[in-house]
Amino acid sequence: QPVGSAPTPPMGWSSWNAFRVDITEQKVLDSARVIVDSGLAQAGYRSINVDDGWWLKRRTSDGRLQVRTGLFPSAAKGKDTSLRPFTDKIHAMGLKAGLYTDIGRNACSQAYDADSPNLPEGTHAEREVGLMGFVEQDVKLFFGDWNFDYLKVDGCGLSSYGPDRAHVASGQYREYKPTIVEGNINQSDVEGTKQLYVGLKQALHDVRPRGDYVLSVCLWGTVNVRSWGQDAGTMWRTSRDIANSFSQMVHNFDSVATREFYAGPGRWNDPDMLEIGNGEFDGNHLLEARTHMGLWAIAAAPLMIGTDLSKVSPAVIDILKAPEVVAINQDPAGHQGVLAYADSDRQILVKTLADGRKAVLLFNRTDAPAKFTLTAEHLKMDATAPVALRNAWTRADAGAFTGQREFELKPREALLFTATGKHLLPRGYFVSERPGSV
Ligand code: DGJ
Repeated sequence: QPVGSAPTPPMGWSSWNAFRVDITEQKVLDSARVIVDSGLAQAGYRSINVDDGWWLKRRTSDGRLQVRTGLFPSAAKGKDTSLRPFTDKIHAMGLKAGLYTDIGRNACSQAYDADSPNLPEGTHAEREVGLMGFVEQDVKLFFGDWNFDYLKVDGCGLSSYGPDRAHVASGQYREYKPTIVEGNINQSDVEGTKQLYVGLKQALHDVRPRGDYVLSVCLWGTVNVRSWGQDAGTMWRTSRDIANSFSQMVHNFDSVATREFYAGPGRWNDPDMLEIGNGEFDGNHLLEARTHMGLWAIAAAPLMIGTDLSKVSPAVIDILKAPEVVAINQDPAGHQGVLAYADSDRQILVKTLADGRKAVLLFNRTDAPAKFTLTAEHLKMDATAPVALRNAWTRADAGAFTGQREFELKPREALLFTATGKHLLPRGYFVSERPGSV
């Protein structure tokens, strides 16, 4: 049973990659406005997510979280600070609203400590913004009172910063320090971590029994989250944070590229939010931006825009909106693309679509031109019958081949096609098999 409701990969915008903790209500609303006015909402990007930085470091005496009203002025209206006026604005725009928290006692960033002047000068351990010990109360606040639709739950409070002694003595905090190094998974903590997230899922289910929410698990591919993420969340991060550099983006892609077994409708591998519009993917680097988008599309990855939309060029918006590329990502069969060919420089990935066509991506990850041979075999199609290609970017016919076809790709280029040909097996076989099979 999938957690929450995202039959196709979640799409939206998040504040983190663009603003870090320099977040304001106005900046979020400005990007939300562009989402609507540019047609990105129409294309499917509907969830507007506030990431780290929205809270004060101390709860009130009755345990209620407090909003940084200097940043979110509308939160200052009532007796208690509230993000309800903010979510009302987002919902009035026809969009959904997302929020950020942490499964531990604290969270990752400390910049917002400066906004908490009346509170004792704190170390990380004195902060108490995370869910630990407050799961039911916070879930009611976020999804009941404040009416959010989406929650991202980080794991810093479990790892980077230890709990204070009083809290450990109270028995609420299970001492816990996984090694936050990808590929270096501390197996002994797997079950404990999983149970914390499963507990959260249950609390969320009590508030939203119809399952109308998205729960995003952020454990960076550690503690075996790839294997159990689907039991605890709608999506789960598979690697460390993305950055606005090509090599980091490729690293994050690699963290999902062989994990198709775990993904499927309602449960998604998450290589992190998009950097399209930033740094190596901005208006001067449109080829890299298209490559980034193509990789996330074939991987059936959540598409969370991570740039200041009030500043991007129309060309960047067009890349994010590209209808046939988004359609490959959002295909209702929910298959993640699988590797049909790989060497250290080049990959070919194939994603079976609900109507029996295949999406195919050719990726040159090097800084030199590279030659590719695409075969009918890669597509599991009959090598004696024509295979017709359509370019998903240009939305134009790209010719047919029989047997195989050669390509030369530019440095860092990814080509993305849909392919129609004669399947080697009956169509029903492809569509009903386990997610990801070709
Ligand atoms: C770590 C996460 O991986 C990031 O996506 C972001 O949410 C930051 N924490 C916020 O502090």
